[in-house]
Amino acid sequence: MTIEFILNEQEVITQADANTRLIDILREGFHLLEAKAGCLIGICGACSIIFNGKIVKSCLIPVFQAQGSKIVTMEGFAKTDGYQDILKGFEKAGVETCGYCETGKILMVEAILAKNRQPARNEILLEFGGVRCRCTEPESLVEAVLAAADIRQRRIYGRTA
Ligand code: FES
Ligand code: FES
Repeated sequence: MTIEFILNEQEVITQADANTRLIDILREGFHLLEAKAGCLIGICGACSIIFNGKIVKSCLIPVFQAQGSKIVTMEGFAKTDGYQDILKGFEKAGVETCGYCETGKILMVEAILAKNRQPARNEILLEFGGVRCRCTEPESLVEAVLAAADIRQRRIYGRTA
């Protein structure tokens, strides 16, 4: 089938079997490699993307569902101020990373901050249950999210709330 959607602010069109995984289309069809093919069963979060404003695991989405949708991959998100807030938060907290599941972690932070601009520690830990990472201590992720929240508040409002 033919599928048209907005990908990182560009109108795109692709031909694919309706049930092809969206991650395969992004990686093989559009050469966007930041969504990683990890577990491919919805557990690890390495394949995360922003789909119609929500963070989703692209290994679980058949491409026919992308028809008419708006998709932002890490490549697109990396051009935003929101990404810079999170990156600075990671740096401030000294988050250690091999890079493998960085996409999942960064987009999860974005999802958390979109829901609550000042999230509580336990809320952050609960949300990160959906991202499997060998490299980063949960406590340093909590510190990174709190730092990113603070940086974002200052950027947008010139102060913390
Ligand atoms: S590759 Fe999609 S959740 Fe692991
Ligand atoms: S950053 Fe290394 S596995 Fe998550």
